[in-house]
Amino acid sequence: MIQTAYKETYRPQFHFTPKTNWTNDPNGLIYYKGEYHLFFQHNPFGINWGNMTWGHAVSPDLVHWKQLPHAIHPDELGTIFSGSGVVDYNNTAGFQTGDEAVLVVFYTSAGSHAPEKVPFTQSIAYSNDRGRSWTKYEGNPVIEHIVASNRDPKVIWHEPTQKWVMTLFLDGNDFTFFGSTNLKEWEHLSDIKIPDGECPDIFELPVDGDPENTKWVFWGAGGKYYVGDFDGTIFTPDGESQRADYGANFYAAQTWSDIPDSDGRRIQIAWMNGSNPPEMPFNQQMSFPCVLTLRTTPEGICMYREPVAEIENIHDYTHAWSNVTLNPDENLLAGLTGELFDIRAEIELNDASAVGFNIRGQDVRYNVAEKQLTFLERSGPLAPQDGKIQLQILVDRISIEAFGNAGALSMTSYFLPDLENADIGIYAEGGSATLVSLKVHELKSSWV
Ligand code: FRU
Repeated sequence: MIQTAYKETYRPQFHFTPKTNWTNDPNGLIYYKGEYHLFFQHNPFGINWGNMTWGHAVSPDLVHWKQLPHAIHPDELGTIFSGSGVVDYNNTAGFQTGDEAVLVVFYTSAGSHAPEKVPFTQSIAYSNDRGRSWTKYEGNPVIEHIVASNRDPKVIWHEPTQKWVMTLFLDGNDFTFFGSTNLKEWEHLSDIKIPDGECPDIFELPVDGDPENTKWVFWGAGGKYYVGDFDGTIFTPDGESQRADYGANFYAAQTWSDIPDSDGRRIQIAWMNGSNPPEMPFNQQMSFPCVLTLRTTPEGICMYREPVAEIENIHDYTHAWSNVTLNPDENLLAGLTGELFDIRAEIELNDASAVGFNIRGQDVRYNVAEKQLTFLERSGPLAPQDGKIQLQILVDRISIEAFGNAGALSMTSYFLPDLENADIGIYAEGGSATLVSLKVHELKSSWV
């Protein structure tokens, strides 16, 4: 039963993992009629990478997931590598048979893993029943082999030029753009190099929330992104690439397609690539979904990442303080234990040299002089604003994700806790700090 399956010692309780076996990249992220679809690279037959197949899960709120039968299986063109999806509301491909709009997904046919080896090509499949069953297009592949292991098609609708645009990873740092009006025939548009590889994403966002002032973002699997302009043919970066996340386990992030305008969010999820705890039936996990925004900073226009507000759907008991002085050697949270938390703090640093949290033996530490947040052997920059920092820390059984100053800093890391230690603590060093506000929300499991 699913209920017992999701209770294993190290099973994440609000991060997606497959019931069993290996997963890597999130694929085909589509929102349609109240459901967030998450497809994922999956090995149906083993705990390690192989036999790539699209697993499938749906969620009403990005927190509670239900795994469905696998969507796309290997065939004579290859195993099924990463890709994306859209809702074809205008039936541009002509696949629609009933009243539901058609979901169309784009994936790489990884030909070197086919029964008889063929080159890597790009293929499509579609669903007329809200993603419950899938038909591969009879004309596959829709894009022939270009170079090396070209892969990971990301498709978007480009409104100003009224066409579909695909960006594709070629090899090394090379990516390319294609355009189409029917999702089946694609023409080459332009090429781009970025200091990253694999799993591109491209999207438009308002700057500082102003819909009249938008920028485009081009993104690679390693989490490097460019802010720039896209005219439907060519992406022109404004400056150097930037880094989106400073944690140890953040890869192949993708954003959801077709989020309704009434919502308007650009929502992203990543593969938390890395280690896996011992003796679990699954291997690897997804990050917690985050909202992306572009904001003007002294360093230019930067990406902010903040957890989706739906985390509140699993808030349980809340411990709250405001305007409390935290002196060295005091631990306001003494006696608090648990595995699942959403911690939110606004801390005035005063004369403290460091402030932080102890999470099951793991120090999450802000060094005031260095202006750095450090945990799990990674550090990220966080400048105080008016002498204060804001932190949000999501703690699950095998992950810690920290967000600083409303998403200016994002750090996503795998964490192997000491099972004997469930203590949560807070500290200041070198002088006192003021907890302007501290809320420690205990979380319920999303699997019950
Ligand atoms: C990224 C990646 C993709 C590829 C997939 C295969 O992690 O290497 O480029 O499509 O994984 O599983």
